[in-house]
Amino acid sequence: MFYPEELVEEIRLKNDIVDIIGSYVKLQKKGGSYMGLCPFHNEKSPSFSVSSSKQMYHCFGCGVGGNVFTFIMEYENYTFVETLKYLADRAGINLPEAQYSEEAKKQAGLKARLLEINKEAAKYFYYQLKSRRGQAAYDYLKKREISEETIKQFGLGYSNKTGDDLYQYLKHLGYEDSILRESGLISFDETRKVYDKFWNRVMYPIMDVNNRVIGFGGRVLGDGMPKYLNSPETKLFDKSRNLYGLNFARISRKPNMIICEGYMDVIALHQADFTNAVASLGTAFTGLQANLLKRYTKEVLLTYDSDEAGIKAALRAIPILKEAGLTAKVVDMKPYKDPDEFIKALGAEEFKKRMDTAGNVFLFEVEVLEREYDLNDPEQKTRFFNEIAKKMLVFTEEIERNIYIEAVASKYRIGFDNLKKLVNRYGAQLVVGQNDQPKERITQGQKQKNKSEDGMKQSQKILLTWLIEDTGIFDKIKDIIGPGDFTENLYRQVAEILFCQYETEHAVTPAKIINRFESKEEQNEAASLFNMTIRGEMSDLERRKALEETIMRIKKNSLDVQSKKAIENNDIQALQNIIREQADLQKLHISFHDG
Ligand code: GTP
Ligand code: MN
Repeated sequence: MFYPEELVEEIRLKNDIVDIIGSYVKLQKKGGSYMGLCPFHNEKSPSFSVSSSKQMYHCFGCGVGGNVFTFIMEYENYTFVETLKYLADRAGINLPEAQYSEEAKKQAGLKARLLEINKEAAKYFYYQLKSRRGQAAYDYLKKREISEETIKQFGLGYSNKTGDDLYQYLKHLGYEDSILRESGLISFDETRKVYDKFWNRVMYPIMDVNNRVIGFGGRVLGDGMPKYLNSPETKLFDKSRNLYGLNFARISRKPNMIICEGYMDVIALHQADFTNAVASLGTAFTGLQANLLKRYTKEVLLTYDSDEAGIKAALRAIPILKEAGLTAKVVDMKPYKDPDEFIKALGAEEFKKRMDTAGNVFLFEVEVLEREYDLNDPEQKTRFFNEIAKKMLVFTEEIERNIYIEAVASKYRIGFDNLKKLVNRYGAQLVVGQNDQPKERITQGQKQKNKSEDGMKQSQKILLTWLIEDTGIFDKIKDIIGPGDFTENLYRQVAEILFCQYETEHAVTPAKIINRFESKEEQNEAASLFNMTIRGEMSDLERRKALEETIMRIKKNSLDVQSKKAIENNDIQALQNIIREQADLQKLHISFHDG
């Protein structure tokens, strides 16, 4: 699919970012921009800023940012084309249909039809549950203390015993076999016999974050096997990218998210007002799901089943959550099997208490480890402590490490100093050993290097911010510095576009730049470039001096990088040019100062 850049730009210009974001987030004018609570992470004081002049947003808390397209894509979980349509519609602009490629049209049409089919099926199952035929399923849900309101909210339903009535119903609505085949709801076997995939089961529609039904889970009414049947993956249904209950949990405005194992747990938790509960879809928790959660929260509470499988699942999920930058805590469900049973037995208040005292994941891991050793046997006990000491090395901050040493030492009564000695011994081994050096361990030299690299990134960022805030700077600096002097790859691309915009239009439109980047990460980073805060008020002279220093730093760095490359390539000619430029730098300095 291809839309001309002018059309994309027209749509952007007709959708003022403050209006659009203001309809989702409460914004307050603060100086030159608007501030509000960031919708992409949980916070109490506003760090989400929307700029009318730049037509961009940026969160100083979690780092997201972009233009009006990025916002709608992120917030509504739309593709770029869906976003374009939505915003064009809003502004009364006609999107010419003819611009779809045949293939794209087919795919978009297919997805839309599959969504329709899932929605029709959900309505059908819901209707069956309420009919006489659904009486047993309805009684089953009642027995499990699911309220009428909850049934409605989650759209629970029932698939009949008949075997092909959903198929007949969907045919009657006009859907052909070819599309029904792709819906995952109907099975076609070799003899061309057709039957419904779900049969005599309680049905749980699975919705995406926009409340669209994308698949189903079905549970047997009693103890039959398999207990749950799930829709297969389809063009709509990607199990690794969705979470059951997230459509409700994402607007719960609670300080964290609860991950549990089962559909029934999610439902029971929501019914008990823990509206921030989600579950994965019958498969192991994935990194994509962790990233999805990260849009809405910083902290995750794991309430997996208290059985062996649940503990294993929690141990697998912990590193995935950490990797995504989320903090995780483990809520203990013992002596009950899962949140559903816990709440039934002890009530919501007790559950809340468990949540508030949720254990740190490290101590949880230690507890699980403990069960592999017989602590009455001195030899095994020693090995256990050695294992813990090794694990402690993930904490690179001494204060943090001491806190954990303290906690473990007092729990197992081995004395802080004893455990600390053991930890230090492993620490020392790691420095000497080369193979399993943890990546957190950064040498002093490396730290220094990272610091100056960060400084250079900052300088390049500041210059980009300045350029869009005061386009007069372009003419003053264009003979000294160009896009090629931005050594950071992404910054260079942005600089190239900015310089080109200025050259052709004598103005810059930063919000337009965002569309040039495809990944969310790049869009966020590009948006952050224009949001450097330049601390404090500056006089004109100070400002000019700071600008000058920044430019010199960038240019000098650029020449250093170039000369290294020239030396590597043995390019004497290039090296001579660079040396000349380096010498010229002083003169340029003066002329800029006087200009
Ligand atoms: P209840 O027994 O109704 O309380 O179910 P639950 O929600 O507590 O589920 P359970 O803890 O037994 O399993 C957790 C999740 O794993 C379920 O919600 C399903 O997504 C999945 N699951 C469980 N059993 C099966 C099965 O037999 N097949 C498949 N494909 N998934 C299953
Ligand atoms: Mn259960």
